[in-house]
Amino acid sequence: MDRIKISDDVSLSRIIYGMWRLTDDSNTSPSYISQKIEACLEQKITTIDQADIYGGYEAEELFGAALKENGYRDKLEIVTKCGIIAPVGRFKNSRVKHYNTSKEHISQSVELSLKLMNTDYIDLLLLHRPDPFMNAEETGYILDSLIEQGKVREVGASNFKHHDFSLLQSHMNNNLVTNQIEISVIANQCFVNGDVAFMQERRLPIMAWSPLAGGKIFGKGNEKLMNLLKDMAKFHNSTPTGIAIAWLLAHPANIMPVMGTNSLSRIKSLADACNVNLDMQSWFEIYETANGQEVP
Ligand SMILES: NC(=O)c1ccc[n+]([C@@H]2O[C@H](COP(=O)([O-])OP(=O)(O)OC[C@H]3O[C@@H](n4cnc5c(N)ncnc54)[C@H](OP(=O)(O)O)[C@@H]3O)[C@@H](O)[C@H]2O)c1
Repeated sequence: MDRIKISDDVSLSRIIYGMWRLTDDSNTSPSYISQKIEACLEQKITTIDQADIYGGYEAEELFGAALKENGYRDKLEIVTKCGIIAPVGRFKNSRVKHYNTSKEHISQSVELSLKLMNTDYIDLLLLHRPDPFMNAEETGYILDSLIEQGKVREVGASNFKHHDFSLLQSHMNNNLVTNQIEISVIANQCFVNGDVAFMQERRLPIMAWSPLAGGKIFGKGNEKLMNLLKDMAKFHNSTPTGIAIAWLLAHPANIMPVMGTNSLSRIKSLADACNVNLDMQSWFEIYETANGQEVP
């Protein structure tokens, strides 16, 4: 498993396991979550993606209970996010769904994430969404301050456009080290709309969320693409999942897919994509089939 250096001090596994869907699983016991983490570790997938809001603000606590039991904290890099307030769970009394990137909220959210996950540091904190009401000076200040306090090792963004990223960065001493955005064979607009190019220009790696389009690549309307992925899988002795993820790994932008399956058997083969090397024409064949047209 390759590793991607996001700073002088921190590196992440090239493939990351995400826990957005953790509470959709019928089994959320610490021992079962530990089995999922062990399956990742066996493949040298050491980075876990979380967010305060996952599972209606409950996923971090479930993960933390597993960490307490299995003692794996030091074998992992923990990524978590903050900034979205949805009127559920601990925020059920909010009148509207909104974003809060104030220093008080970010600071309180990090404190709670640390407590719930039974850890005293977060490897990478991301602002979950660009906030149209953000005071960049205040937000930048608190992110720097959390790094200085040692509560967070690195900070980054999620779903930011380049102007959001540049604005926040302009108010910070530390570097924003990544942007986590949606990328998959289907959600591929980022390759031409500037999102990927901006990160490449900044020499920064990208985290790709929903790299299988949340399972949509297996569903209705994508049969032609799936048949191509199956054919390529036969040729490469892999699976459609392996090919779809290898398509992201093949791109020169240092993309780290954040995979979200709850199935233990699928988790056990998350690293399979690393054995597939797609050539340029295969990359375009997938791209053009997904888009339903040739490049001009
Ligand atoms: N920053 C953000 O705003 C943001 C947004 C969304 C997600 N994320 C992160 O990205 C992670 C991954 O997102 P995701 O879960 O949407 O990723 P994904 O890996 O694209 O999709 C996972 C979904 O696909 C299904 N799936 C996987 N393999 C399948 C197969 N062979 N056949 C049928 N269905 C299959 C899974 O079902 P099974 O569980 O049954 O395998 C699961 O429902 C999240 O956990 C989270 O950490 C971040």
